Amino acid sequence: MSRIVYLNGDYLPEEEAKVSVFDRGFLMADGVYEVTSVLDGKLLEFEGHLKRLERSLSELDMDKPEGFDDLLEIHRELVKRNDVEQGGVYLQITRGAADRDFVYPKDAKPTLVLFTQSKPLLDTPAAANGISVIFADDIRWGRRDIKTVQLLYPSMCKMMAKAAGADDAWLVEDGFVTEGSSNNAYIVKGNKIITRGLSNDILHGITRASLLKYASEAQMEIEERNFTPDEARDADEAFISSASTFVMPVVKVDGSVIGDGTPGAVSKRLREIYVDESRKRAI
Ligand code: PDD
Repeated sequence: MSRIVYLNGDYLPEEEAKVSVFDRGFLMADGVYEVTSVLDGKLLEFEGHLKRLERSLSELDMDKPEGFDDLLEIHRELVKRNDVEQGGVYLQITRGAADRDFVYPKDAKPTLVLFTQSKPLLDTPAAANGISVIFADDIRWGRRDIKTVQLLYPSMCKMMAKAAGADDAWLVEDGFVTEGSSNNAYIVKGNKIITRGLSNDILHGITRASLLKYASEAQMEIEERNFTPDEARDADEAFISSASTFVMPVVKVDGSVIGDGTPGAVSKRLREIYVDESRKRAI
């Protein structure tokens, strides 16, 4: 089925939406993106994603595209036109088309693209059974706090995981886990939820921020600090968070079975809390 996508002011069948070969997103990965989840046909965490998008643009001195002020309406219109009940809206802004040059062009017009993806988010086999992760060296650039479209290494990590019979990779730098290839990483030891603190080393997950807030409101203990691969192998529970996975239990880390090899109680509770709370706030 052909989707309706949004490109620079127009709603178009996906086959008709075309971007220039000179677009800097295509030539230089000079672009930023966001993924906003949809549940019950409504957007989750829209405000958070919009704020992070503005920050990504400003960190890269990239202009806001035309239509930026209408992003909520555009998201809603796409969800409606494509009849999305569960899934997500992908948004990408690039610096636009200009003759190839490393220097930022002066008067390129930013490109704005949005499209929807319908897919089950709630009752998935991964959520019921948990996923497995391997470790991979974190060789990404130093500004992981900016959500850019330079996703080749995360993509390679998913392939490495697949080749090893696992689902995903947790990245390791200087002896500590930074984050998952496309998610934030957590372990549980005793009653403590442990996750790396915010810095330029990781993406500041929108799901992470809300999740930590809900967890602390539920009197759960949180420690924001670096943790090692050994601590992860030895954890009582492990999980990831992202817009598309919410809270997803991890039951195997680098070949070591976590707990009894099924999703742990804390991870399950956090997933429930996160889904309930974000559903209530969906717009
Ligand atoms: N990934 N860390 C990385 C490297 C990510 O790519 C993501 C999101 C996250 C979690 O951020 P959030 O909770 O705001 O989704 C952390 C998205 C979902 C993706 O690339 O598809």
